[in-house]
Amino acid sequence: MATADHLKALIKSHSQGDDERFYAIALQVAAQAARQGHTKMAKELRELVDRAKAQGENHLTGQQLKPVPIVQPRGELAGLLTAAFPSIRLADMALDPSLRARLERILLEQRQREQLRAHGMSPIRKLLLVGPPGTGKTMTASVLAGELGVPLFTIQLDALITRYLGETAAKLRLIFEATQETRAVYFFDEFDALGSERATKNEVGEIRRVLNSFLQFLEQDDSDSIIVGATNHPQMLDRALFRRFDSVIEYNLPSPDISEEVMRARLALLDTSQVDWSAALEAVKGLSHSDLTRACEQAAKNAILQGHTRINSDDLVDALRERRAMHR
Ligand SMILES: Nc1ncnc2c1ncn2[C@@H]1O[C@H](COP(=O)(O)OP(=O)(O)OP(=O)(O)O)[C@@H](O)[C@H]1O
Ligand SMILES: [Mg+2]
Repeated sequence: MATADHLKALIKSHSQGDDERFYAIALQVAAQAARQGHTKMAKELRELVDRAKAQGENHLTGQQLKPVPIVQPRGELAGLLTAAFPSIRLADMALDPSLRARLERILLEQRQREQLRAHGMSPIRKLLLVGPPGTGKTMTASVLAGELGVPLFTIQLDALITRYLGETAAKLRLIFEATQETRAVYFFDEFDALGSERATKNEVGEIRRVLNSFLQFLEQDDSDSIIVGATNHPQMLDRALFRRFDSVIEYNLPSPDISEEVMRARLALLDTSQVDWSAALEAVKGLSHSDLTRACEQAAKNAILQGHTRINSDDLVDALRERRAMHR
């Protein structure tokens, strides 16, 4: 069934007159319904979309639209990807200026891609995000989708990597066919798993070949989609892999300034007038953006459970220290 996010995305695309996106979302709802066993509803939805699209197309060009494979009743692809329609924006992230500039550049090239292509250039679209846990890699993938108004498809590596290399390669092929058909952000999270112990379900020599077949698909991909890999373990990936990406972006633990920004943003709806920020900043060393967010949430819950919205400075510092202790 349609989720609230689907409905919001439908309304947004309708109000922007973006038919292509509207139909893509409707088809995602159909795919989800199919996965949940509502096959009749899924079929009806797909037929409705097909008819509506064909009408629109005939009207404009007299041509039939190609079917969109990602949403065809091929259950297999549906099991390999989870779809989301993020509304999060770049402004929601606390970033140091150089990282912000890099992400802005990618968005600019994506927004102007037709113009770049008209001059024989391609926009940056194959990204590898590298950095420790909780520093904003997954968030970045959502932001790219949110800013560009395209779906975020996260590849389920566990479903992708099977005992049989041939099968894994076939699944990869399905995904890279989808990149051609449906412009979206395709997010390979924990990307190193493709080349690491997680893949030892395969025999040793096979692991390399899984990675190699991924590299081949990545290299050949000339779609309009954005392909994003993320990893905490760059040392597990070999150099050959880095070269296949247009851009390798490094994520780091936040500086004190950024730490304060992350915390202030998370507590923005509460009263922070009593917070001793310099005491808080003494406790943030070694903490990731995610740790900071969670510590703020803990302090916020304490306040709310005590029936008010005023953040207690000691609560916040304790929560930050607890997070730090978890890293030892
Ligand atoms: N730059 C940032 N600005 C504000 N909040 C952030 C930022 N980066 C991360 N966060 C917060 O931390 C949470 C976790 O971040 P995210 O999931 O993107 O980390 P990650 O780098 O993907 O980690 P992992 O390697 O464990 O997957 C986010 O949901 C968000 O609340
Ligand atoms: Mg992540």
